[in-house]
Amino acid sequence: MSVSGPFTVAIDGPAASGKGTVSRRVAEQFGFAHLDTGLLYRAVALKVLAGGDPLEAAEGLREEDLVRDGLRGSDVAQAASRVAAVAEVRSALLAFQRQFARRKGGAILDGRDIGSVVCPEAEVKLYVTATDAVRAARRFAEMRARGEDVTEADVLAALRERDARDSQRAAAPLVAAEDAVMLDTTEMEIDEAAAQAIAVVERALKIPRR
Ligand code: C5P
Repeated sequence: MSVSGPFTVAIDGPAASGKGTVSRRVAEQFGFAHLDTGLLYRAVALKVLAGGDPLEAAEGLREEDLVRDGLRGSDVAQAASRVAAVAEVRSALLAFQRQFARRKGGAILDGRDIGSVVCPEAEVKLYVTATDAVRAARRFAEMRARGEDVTEADVLAALRERDARDSQRAAAPLVAAEDAVMLDTTEMEIDEAAAQAIAVVERALKIPRR
């Protein structure tokens, strides 16, 4: 099933909840364009770590900044969650995300505030979550596979620190939109989580919109 006009899927949730993989699978299934909005904040953070000003970095962001080496590092993740608490930085990134969301053929955006702030009118909203212990175990396995020298306890502590900062900030905190479908992946394989998300999108595509 594919769409010709705009159709937005908003996926939010904390770090390592599985939302990135679920988003990629949904995008593949329906031919939607996918934007991992965490990359925007990570790209700003990378510039700030190199001595840049956060607002200038956000305003001057280019597509090539989203594919730079080092964006996935844990120091960049922590720095991203700090720049993401700056309201002006968030505002500077809004127009790009909203334009992306309304492109023809459908779009899926994953992040922390997509259903609540960026795309409150999204046709589908999902909130993907899992316990912090399970999320830390997943992130730990990924990092070990990349050869990083970390302990699971450190990964859990870093994840909790980032969750707390993302949930408690004043500007667009991590929150499930009231009308989001909840997807708890604690006891789910990623295939199952993706299948459930795809089913939610399929239902929304079948219901004629007013
Ligand atoms: O999703 P990812 O871990 O790449 O996000 C990095 C950081 O960017 C998050 O911890 C969060 O602070 C911030 N972020 C955000 N809003 C989004 C996406 C990411 O504040 N929509």
